[in-house]
Amino acid sequence: MNQVLETIKNRRSVRKFKKDQIKDSEIEAIIEAAIYAPTALNEQPWHFTVIQNKNLLDEINTVSKKTLAENPTSMKNLPESLINAMGNPKYNIIYEAPTLIIVSGNKNAHSAIVDCSAAIQNMLLAAESMNIGSIWLGLVRPYFTTENVKKLNIPEDFEPYYGIAFGYKLMETPKSAPERRKDVINYVK
Ligand SMILES: Cc1cc2nc3c(=O)[nH]c(=O)nc-3n(C[C@H](O)[C@H](O)[C@H](O)COP(=O)(O)O)c2cc1C
Repeated sequence: MNQVLETIKNRRSVRKFKKDQIKDSEIEAIIEAAIYAPTALNEQPWHFTVIQNKNLLDEINTVSKKTLAENPTSMKNLPESLINAMGNPKYNIIYEAPTLIIVSGNKNAHSAIVDCSAAIQNMLLAAESMNIGSIWLGLVRPYFTTENVKKLNIPEDFEPYYGIAFGYKLMETPKSAPERRKDVINYVK
């Protein structure tokens, strides 16, 4: 299998990280991969906020959990087990990763959330290619609905969509992938 296909298949959401920070050069490579994603009308409607401040990471965790616990229906189709986890002080939604990158999209762009999602997938794959663990996080979104979000200094006209946590993997052996549905293809020849 070629290296790209191997990286795609080896990437797993990582939920246990070492405490050491990843290198600036690694973050630069991850963001460079992001900005080479395709975008509708070549608008490149994204902004990346790299957070490595432990206090702010802790705040994003606690505020997101509190906000979600207070209004569990604000996120569609969340399983009961996850809503219950919000009340567990041991559950850290960022999994104590040392770096969190928030990806924001330009509100005036044609399809910013799709473009940003393509960029995020590139980031996950770039990270895996360097053996860096990553996870795409929707559970940080409640933080974006609070006043605290101003601390992120996201440029005007941009809306934060997702967080992606990065760090060195605590365990080197990748766990097996959640089984993929195979009945998702039809051919028209
Ligand atoms: C939009 C999106 C949001 C996600 N949010 C979370 C999250 O908040 N917490 C989490 O543990 N995993 C989150 N995930 C990771 C998924 O659970 C994971 O990708 C899926 O179970 C498949 O596992 P894999 O990434 O190892 O292939 C998210 C994935 C996506 C695409």
